[in-house]
Amino acid sequence: MRHLLIAGNWKMNKDVYETQHFAKALKDYADKYATPKVEIVIAPVYPFLSSAQQILKDSPVRLAAQDVSAHEDGAFTGEVSATMLASLHLPYCIVGHSERRQYHQETDDLVNAKLIKLLKVGINPIFCLGERLEQREANETYQVLDTQLKGGLEDINLVTGVEIVIAYEPVWAIGTGKVATPQQAQEAQAYIRNWLEQNYSTKVAERLLILYGGSVKPDNITELLSQPDIDGALIGGASLKIEHYTAMLETAGQVRKDK
Ligand code: PGA
Repeated sequence: MRHLLIAGNWKMNKDVYETQHFAKALKDYADKYATPKVEIVIAPVYPFLSSAQQILKDSPVRLAAQDVSAHEDGAFTGEVSATMLASLHLPYCIVGHSERRQYHQETDDLVNAKLIKLLKVGINPIFCLGERLEQREANETYQVLDTQLKGGLEDINLVTGVEIVIAYEPVWAIGTGKVATPQQAQEAQAYIRNWLEQNYSTKVAERLLILYGGSVKPDNITELLSQPDIDGALIGGASLKIEHYTAMLETAGQVRKDK
């Protein structure tokens, strides 16, 4: 049975003090909310990962980087390599977020190269994908998912036990307040799971976590997490306030008990 993963994607928010403050507050709640059925992850910006890690070292809260370079260490000003992230023993790294695809022209090939780099050093990628509004309106959602899955996972053999988390994030629902209905999210995520079954195996499809992301908030998370193919959430805006984030962790615990 898959557990739920509740990940806070902080994007470019919180300075070092705010990061420390949040990490301390979350640490106080974490023992209550982190269980074998609910995993807690936060993704602060690069420079404050170590600081958050220090504070959270005896806590079940796990950390993710928000991106990684596709290059090896070397002359790539401004970039951070997978080996550097691995030296921090980070368990997770977000890859292929729509904001990276949109503002930094990241292609499926680049996303694939990043996934491969992370897997090589033992970091679990949180691989984001999803359609834009015009693609949904043109009934191209499944085609887009096909292309992103195929391109992103090229040469990655998930059958050998490689762990990756997939995050379905319809671009039109990110930061817009327009959440996908639980049915829309479930449909897309069932499609992704079926794709994994067709292209890898039933075992892989049953094992991998598929998160939903896009305007998840305390008042809509219950219904989303209750869907059979939604194994957690990647949460932007609503993960920035400790009271909202912990409310969602509490809900996850409740849903997981009932699911
Ligand atoms: P949002 O962002 O929750 O603010 O819509 C989600 C994401 O971008 O991962």
